[in-house]
Parts: sequence; C-alpha cells; structure tokens
Amino acid sequence: MLEIKELKKTYVSKQNKYIALQDLNLNVSKGEFVSVMGPSGSGKTTLLNCISGFIAADSGKILLDGENILNIDEDKLAEVRQNKIGFVFQDFILINGLTVLENIFLPQIIANKNMKEIKKRTKALLDAFAIEMIKDKYPNEISGGQKQRVAIARALSNNPSIILADEPTGNLDSKSSSTVIQAFTDANKNLGATIFMVTHDAFAASHSDRVVALKDGHIIKELVRNASPREFLNDILNFMKGINGDIYDD
Ligand SMILES: Nc1ncnc2c1ncn2[C@@H]1O[C@H](COP(=O)(O)OP(=O)(O)OP(=O)(O)O)[C@@H](O)[C@H]1O
Ligand SMILES: [Mg+2]
Repeated sequence: MLEIKELKKTYVSKQNKYIALQDLNLNVSKGEFVSVMGPSGSGKTTLLNCISGFIAADSGKILLDGENILNIDEDKLAEVRQNKIGFVFQDFILINGLTVLENIFLPQIIANKNMKEIKKRTKALLDAFAIEMIKDKYPNEISGGQKQRVAIARALSNNPSIILADEPTGNLDSKSSSTVIQAFTDANKNLGATIFMVTHDAFAASHSDRVVALKDGHIIKELVRNASPREFLNDILNFMKGINGDIYDD
C-alpha cells in the first residue's frame, strides 16, 4: 500500500538549512489504521505533505500502490491525489457555499464518476457516518464534530487507497473528538479504509492499530496495539512518560 524508504527532506532558506526528515522508513498495509505522534516540530506535517506531494522530498522513495510518487510528473501527481488519496485537515475545509450532500458529491464529480454511482456511494457514506439528517444543511449550520465527519465522508468518496489526516481532532472538544475517532474507526472497520493520522491526542491514537513516534525527523519507536484501545492507551502514555513527556509537549 504505502512504503516509505530512506526519505529525506531539508528546508533551505537564504541562511539556513534544516533537516526536517531523515532516514525515514515506514510501511502501511492495506486496511491498517496508523497514527503518527511526536513533539511539535518533529516533522509530522512535513511527512504528510511529502506523501501527498504538496512538498518535494530531497531523496528516498514513497511508493503508493507500488508507484513511486516522488518521480512522477505534475499531471500524474494530480491524478494520484484525486483518486488515491483522501485528505482530512484540522479545520475541515468544507466548501461553505455547498450543502453537506454537495460537498460529498464534489470530488466524485471532479473524478468524472457517473451520477448513479455518485448517489449510491454518497448514500452509503451518509449512513456510515450518521450524517443523513444534515445532508441539506450548509457547513455553517452544523457542529464541529459533524463537519469533521462530513470531511471524512468526503475524503472517502472516491474510495482512495489511503486517508491522510493531520490533527483531525485538534480543534474539537472531547465529545466531538470521540465521534470523529468513532468515524475513523468505522471507516477502517466497515469500509476497509487505510488511515494515516497525525495526532497529539493519545486517546485518538489508542484507537489505531499502530503508533509511529517521530522525533527530530525520524522514527524513534513503533507501538503495536495487541489489545483494547484502553490497554493501548496505557502503553502509549507509558511510552510518552518514558521519554519525559517530550513527545507530548503541547
Ligand atoms: N516551510 C518551511 N521552511 C522552513 N522550515 C520549515 C518549514 N516547514 C516546517 N519547517 C520546520 O521543519 C520542522 C518540522 O515541521 P513540521 O511542520 O513538519 O512539524 P510538526 O511535527 O507537524 O509540528 P506540529 O506538531 O507543531 O504541527 C520544524 O522545525 C519546522 O520549523
Ligand atoms: Mg503539524
């Protein structure tokens, strides 16, 4: 599914050179739900942006379904983004002038799906995320948790190979946050979605299959969930304590 090999990314400005990612190796299997944690500045967003092709890495490989997206042209990259990657951001980025339904239609229309197929897929998503009753509302008429569930439904609308999420619960209170985590878990369990989620929230991370801990641009630890989210939360918190809370410094 996703294979990252010896990834390196340096930010260069006039005076400075900053290595944001180095020696980074990581695999995500189909159907896996992986969380990325790490202190502020450890390279989490940089990693997501490299995978999505928003920024260019210096070297290494990022294979998505076997294809190295680091050396494909702009057109091909746009196609990969449209069909193979679903994005969920911290601040939703729903289109305010469109209803919930239309927001979920849009990526499918852009991808040239036929209307019958679009309606069928959209209905399944509205049901899966319990947002059927708000389908005709506009984004400014729904709650933060609902917006984020719509954003997840939209990200899944083209049945992407992977969902990339950057702090999807970052701006939410704990109740909304729980419903969003539930939506990710449902997407993963019931729709077979592969999810790669950056989070500062140990509770959110405890629902994933694996936590990858990043520090100074490389992976310092991987924790695998063997039991319930509750037990996994303990493992994650213990690990964070072990490195002086360094990984959770917000
Ligand atoms: N455009 C840029 N130019 C120069 N340096 C950058 C740029 N973007 C990020 N950096 C630096 O690269 C490092 C990694 O940044 P990144 O945004 O990936 O961190 P992060 O782990 O997502 O942090 P946070 O938890 O605060 O979102 C930081 O030290 C940051 O200052
Ligand atoms: Mg970030």
